Amino acid sequence: MMTMMHVFTCFLFVLMFDTSEQCEASFTATLPGGYNTNNLKPCVQYNQVLCPDDGYNSTTGVFTAEINGTYIVSVTMMTGLVAGHTNLWKNDELYVWLYTGNQYDMATQVVCMDLVEGDRIWVIMANAASYTLFDVYNTFSAVLVPSE
Ligand SMILES: *[C@@H]1O[C@H](CO)[C@@H](O)[C@H](O)[C@H]1NC(C)=O
Ligand SMILES: *[C@@H]1O[C@H](CO)[C@@H](O)[C@H](O)[C@H]1NC(C)=O
Repeated sequence: MMTMMHVFTCFLFVLMFDTSEQCEASFTATLPGGYNTNNLKPCVQYNQVLCPDDGYNSTTGVFTAEINGTYIVSVTMMTGLVAGHTNLWKNDELYVWLYTGNQYDMATQVVCMDLVEGDRIWVIMANAASYTLFDVYNTFSAVLVPSE
């Protein structure tokens, strides 16, 4: 009986987590196929939204936090046959650098970030080394870490 109760409780727990899995204050977006060159300024416009959120504007590529909290933010890049840098920015602060070489290399940074309502994050091409990002291998995501 206790075991059944436990199983049932776990099941409910899973169900509850399932309903909260609808990208609440979280998003993922990627780029269209091929070489992207025209959608990288002033910041990268990841316009293929896989997991939408009201805070993420796919026209500008900027995520604006609507809920205070700690977020896991991830950027993955591939430049293709040229080397290149990107930067993740939080408001006026350069948060982290990414770099990939010219052999279809990929780079990822997964970082923790405290955001309050109105804080903005985005990704730019840096160092003017090259202005291309290759294909769907580029993603930008943020996930609000549940505080309870
Ligand atoms: C996204 O940003 C563009 C450019 O600033 C703006 O025109 C548009 O209304 C914004 N979209 C949303 C859903 O806020
Ligand atoms: C979010 O954080 C800001 C800055 O610390 C604070 O002024 C605001 O009251 C907070 N909002 C909520 C809903 O807790």
